[in-house]
Amino acid sequence: MAILPIAKVGNPILRQLSKPVDPDVIGSRKFQEFLDDMFETMFHFEGIGLAAPQVARSEQVVVMECQGTDAIPRTVLINPKIIFYGPIKCEMWEGCLSIDNMRGKVVRPSMVRVQALDRKGVLQDIEANGLYAVCIQHEMDHLLGKLFIDRMADLSTLTQLEEFDAYWREESATVI
Ligand code: NI
Repeated sequence: MAILPIAKVGNPILRQLSKPVDPDVIGSRKFQEFLDDMFETMFHFEGIGLAAPQVARSEQVVVMECQGTDAIPRTVLINPKIIFYGPIKCEMWEGCLSIDNMRGKVVRPSMVRVQALDRKGVLQDIEANGLYAVCIQHEMDHLLGKLFIDRMADLSTLTQLEEFDAYWREESATVI
């Protein structure tokens, strides 16, 4: 396994539309190793989600996992599609491994239903709430060339990490 370098905001690959993965390659050793590398990279940089464009690969692949109170199960989404957005919205602090040391508040639907292939190439249907739902939307935005700063209603809550720690930490952030 390997820790992959993270593409940072300004890198054009973060603004491209990702291509679907050919389902026939999912079972290949090379692709499975890429998934393992994505998890290792995400854990190394202490994120809870990572999309393939963030490691300079413009393909529709997302990995996620978070332990603790707001747990997110270990998840691989390949060629994901959101098929339902819940009617209730939630506002959460978001951060991104591609935007160093920044946080900002984003409003998103608090529930989504997503269909995607898993790492065995099997179609899965996931209903997600709360942090899990927000993380899915944040990561899938990366596949569309969108970043959380694009989703902020305004930039007034954009906050550097030091100031976040000083003033806003108790509201809890999500680095995704
Ligand atoms: Ni991100």
